[in-house]
Amino acid sequence: MIQNISKENAAQEAIEFVKNGMIVGLGTGSTAKIAVDLLGKKLSKDFQIKGMPTSIATEEQAKKLGIELVEIDEYETIDIAIDGADEVSPNKSMIKGLGGALLREKKVEIKAKELIIIVDETKMVEILGKCPLPVEVDIANYEKTGTIIEKLGCEVELRFEENNKPFITDNGNYIYHLIFSEGIKNPVNLNKNLLGIKGVKDTGLFLNMATKVIIGSEKGTRILE
Ligand code: A5P
Repeated sequence: MIQNISKENAAQEAIEFVKNGMIVGLGTGSTAKIAVDLLGKKLSKDFQIKGMPTSIATEEQAKKLGIELVEIDEYETIDIAIDGADEVSPNKSMIKGLGGALLREKKVEIKAKELIIIVDETKMVEILGKCPLPVEVDIANYEKTGTIIEKLGCEVELRFEENNKPFITDNGNYIYHLIFSEGIKNPVNLNKNLLGIKGVKDTGLFLNMATKVIIGSEKGTRILE
């Protein structure tokens, strides 16, 4: 419950940065969902936005709220994006994608002049890698890809659905969860090495992207800039 209030406080603060006429990247996950709902409620003749959703789930939510949507390839840059994260380090590096939407999230958020991340305190870490790092991979040869990934010094687990079938992303790929027993010491190098592996579509490492992290608590928020 406290966590929900914290998420709401962060989301409420984030939407204050969205101005009339902006093109807004709409994130995925329980915290971003609150922000999208708030944006939907705020729509009026004086407050109109265009949303670029980061997942099919968010697209459906935004449509129901009457938010006008744009395609991902329609704009090279967008004004702002708001999204949650799974882990955030003090320099605003992040792990994202445990909700399963990392590839499209990164494609949208890389376009954003301002990327606002909304989290509660539980997501703040000193070193990334307490949670698994999601990596999206091509289904073709995924086993071989997994074996190569493991050589980077991690354990690799394929993400499964509750029905015991592998989880398939919005883009038709699988997700590996990478577990680093001592955390991720050099996220920049790791990201580069992962992206160099054939079959890796993208990683959940979002580095040098967030412009603001709004950390919600029961009592209010604090901002990391
Ligand atoms: C979605 O794929 C993720 O990147 C989410 O942004 C992340 O999992 C945070 O989700 P919550 O806000 O639900 O914790």
